[in-house]
Amino acid sequence: MARTVFRLFTMSVAVLLLLGLGLQVAEGRRNRCFFNRTQESCVCYNLSEETAGSIIQCLPATTVEFWGGDLEKYAAFPIRDLDDSVIDTLGSLVIQKIIIGNVLVPEMLLARVLRFFSYTHVQELAFESCIFQGTGDWSDMDGQNLPILSLSFHNVTSAPLTGREQAFSSLSRWLETLEELAVTGSGVTSLPCAIGRLFRALRSLSLAHNSLGDGSLTPAFCQGAFPQLQQLSLHHNNLSSYHGVCEGLGLLLELQHLDLSHNELVAGPSSSCQWPPSLRHFNLSNTGLDEVPAPLPPRLEVLDMSHNHLHAVDISLSSMKKLFLNQNLLQAVPSIRNCPVLDTLHLDNNSIWELSRDEVKLLGRLQDVAVAGNPFSCSCSGAGGLQALAATGHLGQGWPGDYRCHSPAQYQGWQVARVPLSVLRCDLAAVVAPLCVALALLAVAGAVCLARSSVCRRA
Ligand SMILES: *[C@@H]1O[C@H](CO)[C@@H](O)[C@H](O)[C@H]1NC(C)=O
Ligand SMILES: *[C@@H]1O[C@H](CO)[C@@H](O)[C@H](O)[C@H]1NC(C)=O
Ligand SMILES: *[C@@H]1O[C@H](CO)[C@@H](O)[C@H](O)[C@H]1NC(C)=O
Ligand SMILES: *[C@@H]1O[C@H](CO)[C@@H](O)[C@H](O)[C@H]1NC(C)=O
Ligand SMILES: *[C@@H]1O[C@H](CO)[C@@H](O)[C@H](O)[C@H]1NC(C)=O
Repeated sequence: MARTVFRLFTMSVAVLLLLGLGLQVAEGRRNRCFFNRTQESCVCYNLSEETAGSIIQCLPATTVEFWGGDLEKYAAFPIRDLDDSVIDTLGSLVIQKIIIGNVLVPEMLLARVLRFFSYTHVQELAFESCIFQGTGDWSDMDGQNLPILSLSFHNVTSAPLTGREQAFSSLSRWLETLEELAVTGSGVTSLPCAIGRLFRALRSLSLAHNSLGDGSLTPAFCQGAFPQLQQLSLHHNNLSSYHGVCEGLGLLLELQHLDLSHNELVAGPSSSCQWPPSLRHFNLSNTGLDEVPAPLPPRLEVLDMSHNHLHAVDISLSSMKKLFLNQNLLQAVPSIRNCPVLDTLHLDNNSIWELSRDEVKLLGRLQDVAVAGNPFSCSCSGAGGLQALAATGHLGQGWPGDYRCHSPAQYQGWQVARVPLSVLRCDLAAVVAPLCVALALLAVAGAVCLARSSVCRRA
């Protein structure tokens, strides 16, 4: 019993050390941590010396969140080296992810406690709405490795990074093993070249919801920066030139996914700039483009150009598999003959009013087609084409509710699926023609008969 209590006690001390509190745990009077067994997660609010005891319930959690609090007063707290039993305890914790939110973090404190993570199995560390105060001395981290592979900052403020490249190079041993980094919603306008060079193994980088302009890309993605980067998210920034972005990212030779959505881009005339040939997945959704910019990455497989002002699209990329063109101004289905491996085409919310017989045939071969929200003409051929396409079973979930007739007046607002295509309405010609032939034959027969009978009578 005493042993268990002691163990729990040291565990909680250890977890607190992670947080930088490094304090004696007092008996918790009010329960401030909440453990959710089904999610294996634990959330603690306004942790302080007085309530820290309740953190004991978080020990079985794989995710622990700490919300609220001010660590300022602990900035200069003496932090001793850990003894062996605490190190053992840290090693036995199952916590894999720590989220720290709404906390004022003195960078000095962070710099001193970060190395204790080396005794844990924490792989993800996330800071949300935190203020990093002052600058820290990171030399304790020289040559130190950490198990953390994913690091994220959202809506944080800190002293500018520029000019502190040297200080952060103390973190290089760890940073060169980091795989995922996100710094989002934090007003980032630039990233010094030397910082990118530290992240030698980084595969995924998100700088979304910041204020990066075209000019900040070339220095950030300079020679040797982020050499292994495969995924880059730059959505919701201040980028404006398609070619400027292309030029700024030309050195990322491993890049596979690029998200530029929600930037106001101008395509400009085609340029000689070449995208990294490794680029497969390109998101240009919501970028204000009124034409497909050129050049596109040569081996693209997924292109999202939804929510733009495209009037016409002509893409011939033999590797293209998925094309998203919903929410544009297209009046016709784009030519897809030169995209032999295309399996997905989304054309919802455009201005397409009819699919020709050939288009229905072509679209019917795809796995996933969506054409909802277009102003369909429900003539016999219009409604017939769509109903035939629906019969292939490849129309997405919008069918039948989101496919409605715009014309003729008699069917306006109807579901296309409910427009009758009876033989009498649509194939009148088919009924009338044989009827005419029959009548004509009858007439001929009658005439023959008449002629014969007069011949007979005469004979
Ligand atoms: C645990 O989390 C699940 C999923 O979010 C939620 O439905 C459930 O109510 C939570 N349980 C407690 C005790 O809070
Ligand atoms: C961003 O963080 C600040 C504290 O630094 C907080 O006051 C603000 O509410 C946060 N904003 C959002 C949208 O979360
Ligand atoms: C966005 O870029 C333009 C120049 O392209 C600049 O004038 C403007 O200040 C920038 N906005 C922000 C929020 O950085
Ligand atoms: C592209 O980005 C938009 C908005 O940022 C997102 O909703 C969409 O799912 C992305 N497209 C693809 C194909 O990932
Ligand atoms: C089409 O527009 C409707 C109404 O504006 C919207 O609810 C729907 O999400 C849009 N669909 C697509 C795929 O953009």
